[in-house]
Amino acid sequence: MSGLFITLEGPEGAGKSTNREYLAARLREQGIDVLLTREPGGTPLAERVRELLLAPSDEPMASDTELLLVFAARAQHLAQVIVPALERGAVVLCDRFTDATYAYQGGGRGLDVARIAQLEEFVQGALRPDLILVFDLPVEVGLSRAAARGRLDRFEQEGRSFFEAVRATYLQRAEATPARYRILDASQSLEAVQRDLDALLPQLLELQRG
Ligand SMILES: Nc1ncnc2c1ncn2[C@@H]1O[C@H](COP(=O)(O)OP(=O)(O)OP(=O)(O)O)[C@@H](O)[C@H]1O
Ligand SMILES: [Mg+2]
Repeated sequence: MSGLFITLEGPEGAGKSTNREYLAARLREQGIDVLLTREPGGTPLAERVRELLLAPSDEPMASDTELLLVFAARAQHLAQVIVPALERGAVVLCDRFTDATYAYQGGGRGLDVARIAQLEEFVQGALRPDLILVFDLPVEVGLSRAAARGRLDRFEQEGRSFFEAVRATYLQRAEATPARYRILDASQSLEAVQRDLDALLPQLLELQRG
């Protein structure tokens, strides 16, 4: 596949959605074919699965159910959107992907990492992001930004220790394979974060050409 697969990761309120728009605009200025998408979701069917995952409900969702729904949505998203875009040579910018599964279902929910890795293999085969941008910030800063946005979803209703585990998992994964990750200090002003993204742009263009 000739495209470039970049994912944006980080906890609630880190600025993933804000900055994916920024990054897409910078890349498009260079004449690059950019596909912007998100997980869970990215196709009509996968967006319906997203609603199931995010809606608060009286029936508790078993952690295994949550994990399987995440990967079910991902299988659909890969087949319908991500793989075709990479095949035509696009840069795919995806707001959350499998690192989020390790962080939320592994770190947050405490599910066995080996089980997640099995599903990753099953659903993705050898496909992994070329680059993972981790928007890192203290848990309380992200939660207060998310809270300012309004009603909390099923994940945002979790407690502080859940989000500490999410953050720690992202950082551990970046530390384990540093070449694939870039950690951005998302506690800075939006202007400062975007300056850091501008500084990454030459590397992204290089990867796209390479
Ligand atoms: N660096 C920043 N400084 C201050 N506010 C920011 C910054 N980045 C984003 N915000 C604001 O914080 C809120 C959350 O940002 P955004 O929706 O981009 O986060 P997110 O990572 O996509 O969160 P979620 O995981 O919940 O979708 C928005 O109101 C956004 O304008
Ligand atoms: Mg978002």
